Amino acid sequence: MTSHTDLIAALPKAELHLHIEGSFEPEQMMELAERNKIALPFKTLEEAKAAYDFDNLQEFLDLYYAGMAVLQTEQDFYNLTSAYLHRVTQDNVRHVEMFFDPQAHMERGVPFGVVADGILKALSDGEKELGITSKLIMSFLRHLPEDDGFALLEESTPWHDRFVGVGLDSSEMGHPPAKFAKLFQRCREMGFKLCMHAGEEGPPAYIREALFDIAVDRVDHGNRSMEDPALIDHLRDSQMTLTNCPLSNLSLCVIDRIEDSPVKRMLDAGLHVTVNSDDPAYFGGYMNQNFEAVADALNLNRNEIIRLAKNSFEGSFLTDAEKAAHLAAIDATTAT
Ligand code: ADE
Ligand code: ZN
Repeated sequence: MTSHTDLIAALPKAELHLHIEGSFEPEQMMELAERNKIALPFKTLEEAKAAYDFDNLQEFLDLYYAGMAVLQTEQDFYNLTSAYLHRVTQDNVRHVEMFFDPQAHMERGVPFGVVADGILKALSDGEKELGITSKLIMSFLRHLPEDDGFALLEESTPWHDRFVGVGLDSSEMGHPPAKFAKLFQRCREMGFKLCMHAGEEGPPAYIREALFDIAVDRVDHGNRSMEDPALIDHLRDSQMTLTNCPLSNLSLCVIDRIEDSPVKRMLDAGLHVTVNSDDPAYFGGYMNQNFEAVADALNLNRNEIIRLAKNSFEGSFLTDAEKAAHLAAIDATTAT
């Protein structure tokens, strides 16, 4: 509990940086491992929690890919997605733009349609039953070759009208945005919005590539932009949305202490920053816990917290009319 707990709980929010496979809670993972007869690297909840102690992004990714291997059927992907939507409805998340990692499932022999249809059905039911709206972003794994990304783009063709955009995630160092310049150029021509993880571990030069070589619509994380004053100026002038993930940053040792989160410095510099959970089952917190962590550690005031909630809708891929309705709902919630 912080002095802002009630405000954070009451604010309508959008989540713009969420990997659905990263919302896989160990309880549910162990249940599916049993059902699908697949071994996990841990046997008990205690062992799972003890394993969630990471020194860097790669250590997390190794466990993340091992954990998601128990997802086999459309029903599994449905249950995973449905559980996330029910959980964040409690946090008053009203809209989510969700990444998924098809290559990590297809390389295990799970067809693209099994993954996409399970997720899409849960998103559709979530809108009907919970009133939460959503958009899906297909992510390419950057540790794989660009040609594999082209193969995924081809194979996913029948579903293209159900994705708003594409993303780039997995191991950042050594896999700069420019490695995927042709693929993202093609995706832009096809009408997809473009997102890339950049500057989580990678240098400011990776953020510059994402902005200037790829022309992304959103930068995921963006932490290391704070090392480059000219880049900060550009991000402020362009009002590029950065999807920061405070508890993820702490878990993956991108920052040593939550007090080192760049969220307040980004706000102070006039950047269009948002707060998100990334992989909440692994990093110890969903949306409101991320908001609370920064509000508390960085002494954010009421206006800054409201600004973060507004940024989440403004930075979304909703229409202007939809954004305006959400922003009006925030104003109604916070009117004194
Ligand atoms: N995939 C899932 N979470 C990720 C993160 N934080 N960075 C890069 N790739 C990811
Ligand atoms: Zn991420």
